[in-house]
Amino acid sequence: MATIFNNKRIILGVTGSIACYKAVDLASKLTQKGALVDVILTRSAQKFVSALAFRSVTGRPVFVDMWDEREHVQHVNLAETADLMIVAPATANTLAKLSTGIADNLLSLTAIGLRCPLVVAPAMDGGMYAHPATVANVETLQSRGIRFIGPAEGRMASGLTGKGRMVEPLDILAAVRPILGRDGLLAGRKVVVTAGPTREKIDPVRFITNRSTGKQGVALAQAALDAGADVTLILGPVPIEPPNECNVVRVTSTLDMHDATVEACTSADILLMAAAVSDFTPATKSDQKIKKTQAEEWGMAIGLERTLDILKAIQKQRKSSGFPRVVLGFAAETQDAFKYGRDKLIRKGLDFIAINDVTAPGAGFGVNTNRVTLLDADGLVAKFPLQSKSEVAEQIIIRVAEELE
Ligand code: CTP
Repeated sequence: MATIFNNKRIILGVTGSIACYKAVDLASKLTQKGALVDVILTRSAQKFVSALAFRSVTGRPVFVDMWDEREHVQHVNLAETADLMIVAPATANTLAKLSTGIADNLLSLTAIGLRCPLVVAPAMDGGMYAHPATVANVETLQSRGIRFIGPAEGRMASGLTGKGRMVEPLDILAAVRPILGRDGLLAGRKVVVTAGPTREKIDPVRFITNRSTGKQGVALAQAALDAGADVTLILGPVPIEPPNECNVVRVTSTLDMHDATVEACTSADILLMAAAVSDFTPATKSDQKIKKTQAEEWGMAIGLERTLDILKAIQKQRKSSGFPRVVLGFAAETQDAFKYGRDKLIRKGLDFIAINDVTAPGAGFGVNTNRVTLLDADGLVAKFPLQSKSEVAEQIIIRVAEELE
């Protein structure tokens, strides 16, 4: 899957703290996401972890020595070509160097010549972090626009508890994503995505649901993140792993999804309504498991009533508040897809509808591909070929971002 990390040149500066072991994991995760990770180790960092560990996970040379003559002015090369520099873990000593401009090793030398954003994830004992010298250095660096991620509270190597732990690699990934996406199509935009089915309770052990797996919605959330958006994903009860960089709201019933979507949309730029919302719910829900004999007495039928139409509620909200500014719905159809899709676009007051014929080969529930036709009120916008759900998502994001412009 293409991600915002793809082919981004990231310098990972690693300084001497026991949290160095987490930096190997961070380098590995960044590489798996597609980034080109150039690791610089300080001399102290090499006491904790070897250059080989980093080379093994990044597949790239690791830099340790400012006097290494292999490349002409190596620090300038690194600094000028990077999209981002992360110093993790950052010791008190390195924070002091960064704040005063001392450039006595390859890491600090590179940092002083950077043209890209710099983020730091401190790691040190609580007392060191609270020391007035460190506090002053942190303030100075923050005032220059350097982003701090953490430190977190918790148990430290000294056995003491306090504020000084390096944050986890996944949290660092989440924090740097908006920095990498700052020039993306949806930079600074708020996007709400709904995904997966909803589930309507019959009794504590039974429910009504549908075959949605949430794949297309999650792909949309990922594509929106990659375009630099701030994403809220409202996800029905499916065992899919959401991108960890978005704000995930787990819901079960249509009513839950309605409430979460309405709330998330109060100031959203875009709503992408990919969820397969249950249209019906049992008229009476039993608090106890329904026994066979009872069911027979009740005539073996489940009385259903209509659920709320979430997009209709959003249409109303939009009329009064203007938010969300762009709304896209999906129409999963088994026949006359174009006609039904168009009807829904008008009926639900949408800007776009993404229509898919779920009976077409390679499209629909559970598979990784989809064949989508995109309509707006003026008619056909695009008929995409059969492609991966990620590619469908990227295409949709491009069209929706254009509309927002
Ligand atoms: N949708 C919604 N609230 C519902 C049902 C559907 O917001 N209670 C949204 C879906 O998320 C989708 C769009 O409306 O974006 C179309 O959903 P679909 O199930 O295809 O249409 P329905 O409105 O249920 O119409 P029909 O039953 O006629 O197919």
